[in-house]
Amino acid sequence: MAIEILPSGRALGAEIRGINLAAPIGDDTFDAIREAWSDHLVLLFRGQSLSDDDLIRFSQRFGALDIAPASATDMAGAQEKSRPEIWIISNVVENGKPIGALGDKEAEWHTDMSYVDEPPMASVLHSLEIPKAGGDTSFANMYKALETLPADLRRAIEGRVCNHDASTTSVGELRAGAGAVTDVRLAPGAKHPMIRTHPVTGGKALYLGRRLNAYIPGLELEESERLLDALWAHCTKPEFVWTHQWRVGDLLIWDNRAAIHRRDSFSGAERRVMHRTQIKGDRPR
Ligand code: SIN
Repeated sequence: MAIEILPSGRALGAEIRGINLAAPIGDDTFDAIREAWSDHLVLLFRGQSLSDDDLIRFSQRFGALDIAPASATDMAGAQEKSRPEIWIISNVVENGKPIGALGDKEAEWHTDMSYVDEPPMASVLHSLEIPKAGGDTSFANMYKALETLPADLRRAIEGRVCNHDASTTSVGELRAGAGAVTDVRLAPGAKHPMIRTHPVTGGKALYLGRRLNAYIPGLELEESERLLDALWAHCTKPEFVWTHQWRVGDLLIWDNRAAIHRRDSFSGAERRVMHRTQIKGDRPR
């Protein structure tokens, strides 16, 4: 089966046409998908109708799956209805309980689950219900952000690590069991190099996780805050970004090692239901 690759024309992202992800995928076709993913960091497949089993099977072609992350305390238990590998992202409330995580608020720029020692290398997100407006997901290319980083900022982060806070979700809610962070120097989480080397491409990428509660050990608090603000202002410039407007049946896979993402808010009167898997990665180096 010959696939067609249509680059977004932006700093990252490409659409792949000519494939049904619910059907068996031959090795040659899969190799072409994997190569396109390496080149473009985020791949879009439109018009896919996937059961959770299909989504898991396709995701597992890339590697073993991680179980879904902990969500906010107010939806603890909802995940139990789902498969352990599937994270439901939704604002829908049934019988007084959210069926998924993240609600309808804006999700800030982040890397998925970078607060663990071995964060997933990729996430795969499939859309089942989509609001008429809002809820777009944007991605930024962290290879390009590093390549263009002003020399003084690059010097300031060479050899440094950053603490990736584990307490809070990308919509600013506390995860189940987490306490509020009152001093970012003491935030729970994992420490990762601020410049990481991609284990497959060998390329170097800026690796920041998320801004909220981040801290650069070894720096005075104010210096860490100033440096993080400057880095985030740089890496989220429009020239590094591609924004995806969802349709029902879209599937995106993104590289968590070299891309960050965020989501726009949308009306709470509408339904948005997405199923996500996350593919195991290694310790950032
Ligand atoms: C996420 O994985 O961070 C959620 C993205 C989205 O809801 O579009």
